[in-house]
Amino acid sequence: MSGFAPIADLLARDRKGHTLPRELYVSDEAFEFDTQVMLKSVWLYACTVAHVKNPGDFFVFELAHNSIIIVRGRDMQVRAFWNSCRHRGAKICLEQRGRAPRLMCPYHQWTYGLDGQLLAARSMADDFDKADHGLSPVALENVGGLIFLCLSDNPPPIDRVKADISAQIAVYDLENLKVVFQDNYIEDANWKLVMENNRECYHCDVGHPELISVLGTTGFGKDAPDDAAKHEQWKAIGIDHDLIEFPDGWWHRIARLALANGAVTQSIDGKLACQKLIGPFTAPETSSLSVWTQPNSWHHFCCDHVVTFSLTPISADKTLLRTSWLVHEDAIEGVDFDPDHLAALWRKTNQQDGYFSMINHRGISNDGYIQGRYAVEEKLVEDFKNFYVSHAKAALETIS
Ligand code: FES
Ligand SMILES: [Fe+2]
Repeated sequence: MSGFAPIADLLARDRKGHTLPRELYVSDEAFEFDTQVMLKSVWLYACTVAHVKNPGDFFVFELAHNSIIIVRGRDMQVRAFWNSCRHRGAKICLEQRGRAPRLMCPYHQWTYGLDGQLLAARSMADDFDKADHGLSPVALENVGGLIFLCLSDNPPPIDRVKADISAQIAVYDLENLKVVFQDNYIEDANWKLVMENNRECYHCDVGHPELISVLGTTGFGKDAPDDAAKHEQWKAIGIDHDLIEFPDGWWHRIARLALANGAVTQSIDGKLACQKLIGPFTAPETSSLSVWTQPNSWHHFCCDHVVTFSLTPISADKTLLRTSWLVHEDAIEGVDFDPDHLAALWRKTNQQDGYFSMINHRGISNDGYIQGRYAVEEKLVEDFKNFYVSHAKAALETIS
């Protein structure tokens, strides 16, 4: 583990029920370890199939110095490749998203098919075989329309996550939604603090008045009263499932949550954000389905739209939070939905969370910081921390 020995010492100082040692949150060494080792050993959420809806649509996912092209082929398969030309290595896709009939390297115009095969390379020697110079693949899994990547040659299992999440989100039919827009919001905090903040609603009563007026605070570590009548309705349309909460060391949580105050979607006023409903819904529904995965995503599925969130660290104290809003592919802007209304609730909530994560990071930067004790209702924060620590230790083992 040359170079990362101090990380092992820091991980050894993890305490049950407590936050991590300071340097794991704020140091450049921990950022390098996280992006070069830990986060490469796990599956990361990147985007949905709707982000690459048509053949030739590409989406570039970046993690520190690594860049990966996710692209839809003519056969409608979604594949991932390292964003590095097989000639002399230049970056091929320079835009974050786009559409191209083929992937052409801007340097000397080597040209690849959407399936990664090298199609054209000028003036190469006779013994050069194009078949040996296709783009290098990256492990990709389509989880009910959510695209996950693993940057390791040895990806860990994903089968149970795939089965559980697909079973519940298939009805939302992500292939037939469209991305209205995505916000790329840079938070001034370490990625682990942004994740910790996402995993509790201890701060919601004071911190998110708009969010809790439609979402309530149940299901985020606080107990929800069970409503038998609702379950009967959900059964009738095939959306009644038990809570799944990071089972057997797996890394997913899925919960259908009743909305509050008569809200029928996660919008700023609780009113429909898109008139064209999605999934099995023929009438507004007073619940939404939420999916959380370790270590970098969460998603909300409403009767009229879907909103997905992915996190990627940019530096020790900067994190990209990418939020995407999806509606029915036939929905018409200005007729069925108003983009500002659609996005208002989570834009506001993201800003509030960005503030909390920022003051958390700044406070932890103090010499006087002491590992703090989690509240009872911060159990899911500790689940995230435990995932981080156990996978960090396991990843260290593989390089020692
Ligand atoms: S580096 Fe891509 S064509 Fe030369
Ligand atoms: Fe929050």
